[in-house]
Amino acid sequence: MENRTEQMKKIKDEIVAAKDSPLYDFRVKNKYFPVIGEGSHNAKIMFIGEAPGKNEAETGRPFCGASGRVLGELLASIGIDRKEVYITNIVKDRPPENRDPLPNEIEFYAPFLDLQIEIIKPEIIATLGRFSMAYIMKKFGLESELKSISAIHGKVFIAQTSYGSVKIIPLYHPAVAVYGTNKEILKKDFKVLKEFIK
Ligand code: URA
Repeated sequence: MENRTEQMKKIKDEIVAAKDSPLYDFRVKNKYFPVIGEGSHNAKIMFIGEAPGKNEAETGRPFCGASGRVLGELLASIGIDRKEVYITNIVKDRPPENRDPLPNEIEFYAPFLDLQIEIIKPEIIATLGRFSMAYIMKKFGLESELKSISAIHGKVFIAQTSYGSVKIIPLYHPAVAVYGTNKEILKKDFKVLKEFIK
């Protein structure tokens, strides 16, 4: 069996070469990179955002712009180093003009996310925003509990996976706190995460 880093590299190679992706032409035209994910391959916590923005597509790193600064601050507020967790997105290439990901884009990239979950085997999956919340809750049989993010953010759902049980915690996307006053809500929800580590 290959190690986790080798398995992750295969996913990267496949995405880089994925000419059938609905976002492939846009990536190549702009000389963008796909954003696979970053962090520890042995992480207990996996964060799943929406899709790369411009900064991310230019560097190949998830959450490295304004939302990333907020995410870093939230992690620091509960004493977690970014390197200890794994951070990725449901969609691996930047959609034009930062629009919401389309259903066919989510459908195309979700199998790669599924593989990443199988490789990392996180104990906790924290979704960032409504797209990854909806995908992950449906994937793990929690469709009947899926409500609007304002109703279920910060709640803990338990699901069974091929490797054991996982806690799923829907969180608001850090972008909601870049300008507004929503950071306090996010900080409170991050405290929930803290209870499950260490
Ligand atoms: N927003 C996301 O959802 N993901 C990123 O990587 C950056 C911004």
